Amino acid sequence: MKSNVCLTGIKPTGIPHIGNYFGAIKPAIELAARYEARYFIADYHALNTLKDPVLLKELTYKLAATWLACGLDPDTMLFYRQSDIPETFELTTILMAFTSKGLMNRAHAYKACVQENTQAGNDPDAGVNMGLYTYPVLMAADILLFNTNLVPVGKDQKQHVEMAADIAQSLNFAYGKDLLTVPEPVISETTQVVAGLDGRKMSKSYDNVIPLFIPSKQLRKIVMKIVTNSQGVDEPKNPEDAHLFSLYQLFAAPEEQAAARERYLAGGMGWGQAKQELFEAMDAYLAPMREKYERFMQDPSRIERILKEGAEKARPIASATVERVRNALGIN
Ligand code: TRP
Repeated sequence: MKSNVCLTGIKPTGIPHIGNYFGAIKPAIELAARYEARYFIADYHALNTLKDPVLLKELTYKLAATWLACGLDPDTMLFYRQSDIPETFELTTILMAFTSKGLMNRAHAYKACVQENTQAGNDPDAGVNMGLYTYPVLMAADILLFNTNLVPVGKDQKQHVEMAADIAQSLNFAYGKDLLTVPEPVISETTQVVAGLDGRKMSKSYDNVIPLFIPSKQLRKIVMKIVTNSQGVDEPKNPEDAHLFSLYQLFAAPEEQAAARERYLAGGMGWGQAKQELFEAMDAYLAPMREKYERFMQDPSRIERILKEGAEKARPIASATVERVRNALGIN
């Protein structure tokens, strides 16, 4: 019997890439062996920045198909779409009354917007909508609704989970210590940062991503764009110093990695060849999942059905939490 709940969500704001897979999806699926897993698509979080209905729908299906192709088993893990759980929004409203405005002012993501605006000489709140400003409250509702113990997230989201814990504690302090489960962030130490084409963290905002599921030919083209230094074919190369090699390590078996390390150090292998080897390792690793992904994408009604069934299983848990909280508040 798994006693702890592990929950995380991903926003459908871009096409899932290699960084999402190694940084979020793969570790989350591994955690499901030990924890009660609850994973969802945070479409209302996406709405703050994405206002194209066709694209939002498309990216939602692509993200769902990605989770499923990467091994999320909807029979043993709860898998749903945030917008299908209306209890989320009732709990959000309740949590608003327990969240100080000052706490939101301190959120890194909001502070970064303000700083950017200030530097550009704009109004500090230019382009900031209330959804963005209160983003951590909606996220706290996602987490607290499902009695979550652990939230696997990237470093950038750690503060948001800590805020959810703070908010839970304020309610527990006021109404009794067992009202809400206090969550903890889990940051995976091993694969938290995947390098992008230019060597910086792979991220949509840096425009340096390698999409997870694209046809082989396109994948090869993108791999060939990885930035390297200008060392010639004969020169020995330092694998520790090449993000090309760090990407290779994600896809190749340990023996292959050791052999490649030798080839780097010996010299005689040009960057072109190293890229070709990376592409081959990637393609072999991704092909079986890519096939599943394509099958899901050809049948959106199947994705829709899985998400709806997930919501049906999730809602009783969510409504029990809302009921418990309402009773405590005297709103019943
Ligand atoms: N804010 C997260 C991100 O940008 C997505 C998210 C929304 C989330 N709700 C959540 C993550 C609840 C963990 C738990 O990546």
